[in-house]
Amino acid sequence: MEQKRVGAFFKIAIFTAAFCHQHVPAVDNEIDAMIATASMKLYRHFKNKPYKYLGVAKHSETFGELVLYEALYPNPEGKLWVRPKDMFHEIVEKEGKRFPRFASVGLRIETVTDVTKAEILSLRPLLETIFQSFDEKAMDAILENHSGFALHKALVDDTLVGFKLGYQHSLTTFYSWLGGIDPQYRGLGIASDLLKAQHDWCKEKGFQRIQTKTKNKWREMIILNVKAGFDIIGTYTDTKGEPKLILEKKLV
Ligand SMILES: CC(C)(COP(=O)(O)OP(=O)(O)OC[C@H]1O[C@@H](n2cnc3c(N)ncnc32)[C@H](O)[C@@H]1OP(=O)(O)O)[C@@H](O)C(=O)NCCC(=O)NCCS
Repeated sequence: MEQKRVGAFFKIAIFTAAFCHQHVPAVDNEIDAMIATASMKLYRHFKNKPYKYLGVAKHSETFGELVLYEALYPNPEGKLWVRPKDMFHEIVEKEGKRFPRFASVGLRIETVTDVTKAEILSLRPLLETIFQSFDEKAMDAILENHSGFALHKALVDDTLVGFKLGYQHSLTTFYSWLGGIDPQYRGLGIASDLLKAQHDWCKEKGFQRIQTKTKNKWREMIILNVKAGFDIIGTYTDTKGEPKLILEKKLV
């Protein structure tokens, strides 16, 4: 996992040094684009190493605030580190240049409501990475049989790292059909930011509740949803004989 994250980070690092939230490129058929900084926990040290921000701890003797952070690469010196909060966020000067000691790597979330076949096909590599398959027929059937789509895409720099796709179920209910995060970018708060963006969008559009279905095997998704306020409101067995959970969250 750490090795993979290093790979992911260097993909990030080769992009412009500016954080991605400082440049929001135009996206075809994009209705709305917004910056989500709420939970994203990926930081880049000025020596170009990736770290996950874990939170702020208090020093038991001095009550001084310390940032706790985790190396996202194999570091023989240790995995968990602390540093005074002011120092973590300070600007350092080196060879006449000033830059943050730790720079927050930006996450951009785009909302696409004109969901076309081409848009779905652009998700294919990510879907294959997450689910090891891409069921084009199932995708076509969803596009054909439903309307009122919203696709929320998470991008780190210009790399698509996660998505959530859903559609209008009724005048009051939005159905969140499918979603996932590239394994290399998990545990950084990206799904939480995507979920928040989707729910904020649903509220803005006047939906009163959001529904989703999942299986026991998608445990992280169950935890994420329950933590985000979904209730399990039912179960059933699908045509393949697998039990499924029905979850619902009230938005008002
Ligand atoms: C579920 C999934 C989207 C989470 O993505 P993520 O970006 O890693 O999630 P976040 O970092 O935002 O984590 C949000 C919360 O989810 C829960 N969570 C995420 N991964 C977890 C794990 N491995 N173990 C336990 N809880 C986990 C935690 O409560 C976490 O909050 P915390 O960090 O404060 O503890 C991701 O694991 C995934 O893509 N899974 C496969 C796809 C999938 O299940 N699709 C559903 C098909 S219906």
